[in-house]
Amino acid sequence: MTITQSEGTAAVANSVLPARIPTVPGTEWWRSAVIYQVYPRSFADASGDGIGDLQGITSRLPHLAQLGIDAVWLSPFFTSPQRDGGYDVADYCDVDPLFGTLDDFAAFEDAAHELGLRVIVDLVPNHSSSDHVWFQEALAAAEGSPGRARYLFRDGKGPEGNIPPNNWDSVFGGPAWTRTTNPDGSAGQWYLHLFDSSQPDFDWQNPWVREQFRAVLRFWLDRGVDGFRVDVAHGMIKAEGLPDYTAPADSGSMGGGQVDPLGLEPEVQVTEAAPTPPYWAQDGVHEIYRDWRELLDEYSGDRVLVAEAWVDPMAKLAQWVRPDEMHQAFNFAYLGTTWTGPRMRRVIDESLEVFSSVGAPSTWVLSNHDVVRHASRLALTAENPQGHGIGPASPGQPLPELGLRRARAASALMLALPGSAYLYQGEELGLPEVINLPDESRLDPTWFRTNGERYGRDGCRVPLPWEANATAFGFSPTGESWLPQPADWAPFARDSQIGVAGSTLELYRLALALRAEYQLGFGSIGWLPGYGEEVVALQNGPVTVIANTGTVPVELPVGELLLCSEELVGGILSPDATVWLLAAH
Ligand code: GLC
Repeated sequence: MTITQSEGTAAVANSVLPARIPTVPGTEWWRSAVIYQVYPRSFADASGDGIGDLQGITSRLPHLAQLGIDAVWLSPFFTSPQRDGGYDVADYCDVDPLFGTLDDFAAFEDAAHELGLRVIVDLVPNHSSSDHVWFQEALAAAEGSPGRARYLFRDGKGPEGNIPPNNWDSVFGGPAWTRTTNPDGSAGQWYLHLFDSSQPDFDWQNPWVREQFRAVLRFWLDRGVDGFRVDVAHGMIKAEGLPDYTAPADSGSMGGGQVDPLGLEPEVQVTEAAPTPPYWAQDGVHEIYRDWRELLDEYSGDRVLVAEAWVDPMAKLAQWVRPDEMHQAFNFAYLGTTWTGPRMRRVIDESLEVFSSVGAPSTWVLSNHDVVRHASRLALTAENPQGHGIGPASPGQPLPELGLRRARAASALMLALPGSAYLYQGEELGLPEVINLPDESRLDPTWFRTNGERYGRDGCRVPLPWEANATAFGFSPTGESWLPQPADWAPFARDSQIGVAGSTLELYRLALALRAEYQLGFGSIGWLPGYGEEVVALQNGPVTVIANTGTVPVELPVGELLLCSEELVGGILSPDATVWLLAAH
């Protein structure tokens, strides 16, 4: 076992994957990896308090290895008041007691590495928690002092200074500025928070901020992590002078210009871009990532940076993954594409072209902790802007059976594509969005900041069902669960599906095994002609993949059946189904 250690830092390495030997450029693990997102709060609760924790995750790791993934990405487990599910960090170098201790993290990482799974942690650099000592010190510091310059404090407008410094809105609703109170009780300056008021934005023009984050990166790299998912990687630099900006009506809550995510407009182009807001996708972010890349490259093994960047068009997003910047970026254009043949082909073509133009692999993703789960989203019957979520009073309620069917087909298509794929915990069980959560259980700041107008993201964060007949479906030994699990979730439980032919879990396991066997992640695709507009038919190596997004059954070519998302009847592929075949020679 190798121990990595950077110069001048304490030797606090956890285990390091044995495969930390230089890889031939172009064949690095992350180029084809399937990376599984764990949302620690909702994965597995060992302590019994109803909130998932690191020991719980460690205890379930063998199940993830059995699924056939390559890496685990953990959403934040750092010290935090949990006002935004841990994306409000109060200490970047410690574990929140809710989730355990640094030793629990070390044990988790050792266990993951022993199982051959790499570990990616979440880095939240755009903002900290308002509880962070850096912000508390900034608040206590004098106006205009270096202490204040860590964050974006500004005077208000108007004679009383009671008008916010500009007109920006928070992603979670309401204004992006909050006014402070001086020690003598008088009203003070305002600070910027693109998200909740408990998440003040750093001033990344300040070298002090850059230095702190270099230390944070080293802290976790020295502990052997294999990489970072970088939160809001499009937001850290704001336009000079913080000018006013009014977002176009359809630009989505992340302002990323996800154009027509539900495909309600027949001819909209994936590449159409909204104007760049002064707080997103500013050119200045790139020098930060170049700096981080150099830092990561000091470490042995292929450590990675993954951008959560809601940037449109994709050609611009590709700038985040140039050879000297990050390794990967989430493909939200793919996530936002409706289940329609022409759009799927177009977004796949564009992704492969754009990412390969900068030497990066394309990534693919259908679900995460911020969006309506794809087993529901793909069968919504009305528009639902990203981040708004669905609840009991939302129009266009999803059709559950259709949703699951489409989700299985869409996942089977995604896992056949070259590049790297991201899975979100529970999608391998076919979990739907939970729509009927009691209002009083909701915790997403979006819900509070919009006075319940937007349901937000709690519906995709409900704790996982592991055992059909156990209390809290095996999530927690005491039956506690921070969000209530639907009573009818037993059929989704892992133990209802493992070893059951045709279950969603077995579909994922088979897809991942075949993907590895035929090296599909390192492959390339060609479209197969003659199937009609609504059929996505492609060849990746020896594997033929046919996905039927239309309403008409499709006759299949001769070949050995490898996988099907729905049972085939007489060699016919029904609507909303995907099949993998080995071409007959
Ligand atoms: C990212 C996270 C999201 C969080 C936000 C603010 O978009 O994925 O969950 O609320 O950043 O940190």
